[in-house]
Amino acid sequence: MDRTSRKIEHIEHSLKLPNVSTRPFDDIKFVHQSLPNVDVNSVEIKTSIGELHFSSPIFINAMTGGGGERTTHINRSLAKIARKYNMPIAVGSQMAAIKDKKQRATFEVVRQENPDGIVISNIGSEATVKEAIEAIEMLNADALQIHLNVIQELVMPEGDRSFSSSLMRIRDIVEHMPVPIIVKEVGFGMSMEAAASLAKIGVRAIDVGGYGGTNFAVIENLRRDGTIDLFNDWGISTVASICEVKASQPFISVIGTGGIKTGLDIAKALSLGASAVGVAGLFLKELHQNGMNGLEATVERLHNELIMVMTALGAKNINGLSKAPLVIGGETFHWLEQRGIK
Ligand code: FNR
Repeated sequence: MDRTSRKIEHIEHSLKLPNVSTRPFDDIKFVHQSLPNVDVNSVEIKTSIGELHFSSPIFINAMTGGGGERTTHINRSLAKIARKYNMPIAVGSQMAAIKDKKQRATFEVVRQENPDGIVISNIGSEATVKEAIEAIEMLNADALQIHLNVIQELVMPEGDRSFSSSLMRIRDIVEHMPVPIIVKEVGFGMSMEAAASLAKIGVRAIDVGGYGGTNFAVIENLRRDGTIDLFNDWGISTVASICEVKASQPFISVIGTGGIKTGLDIAKALSLGASAVGVAGLFLKELHQNGMNGLEATVERLHNELIMVMTALGAKNINGLSKAPLVIGGETFHWLEQRGIK
């Protein structure tokens, strides 16, 4: 199976994923405030990750590229939305275009459609420093994501089997890169142990890519009729993972990706300590089912819902949201207690 067909299959199966039965975001409840002392019009949602400043805390997370016409079309549409709403956008793994130059156009379209916006490159932890630089130069990127996807590789028969040098390669890239690095998971969450290892080698931004949204263990099983299903429920939820990283590495900027569906989810992720959130599956589904109009309506809905929740809580900005009182119940409560997270 070549990378191109695999990319298309990932898109196809991600669109068919059933909704998860329990939503860890539901374990987080905000405490209602009857006197919020804020006007809707005065709420500000700009944020920053290190030296990168965003006017929206929602970014379009890594999905596609390297799959021909179809992924070019998806990337063009996503890039147009990113430009219209001034949202950062990350492309899917550029390893395909590094190995095969003919695939570059499917990624380059993102920079062409969004010449002045924040565009983020994406590579795997198998990449060398030279490949990382090539990925950034391909898009004149403002930052570089390095994805960690051990479970997905293990479930794929053709996947990688060697993970012992990942940290060393990430360290080399961090030392040589001219742009900020974001290390990200792809839906299994980041633990405090992984965050500590990444902090030690100089990583300053982590996208937790938590459990509860797009599930690559399930996707890989759908691709081959469920041969290895032991990882289908594996992973740290997005909310627990934000707490794992933020409580153990307070100086790391956290991005809360994984299962974001509403502005309330976004407010919860930000209040737990994330500086921004990434959305992938929801945007892809919306684009597939309802086209550009549906995608635009979804982005506007998320922004409006976030502003409504912030108003209700009396949070004038993202920093104010991090001070909003909340109560944690359910499995997340037990998870945090057993992991010693206050
Ligand atoms: C992804 N994701 C992803 N991540 C990455 O770092 N490199 C990649 O190439 C891809 N490819 C990809 C393809 C498709 C079709 C989807 C839906 C997702 C993972 C993505 O960035 C994100 O971490 C997860 O999808 C979890 O977020 P959602 O989908 O629950 O919002």
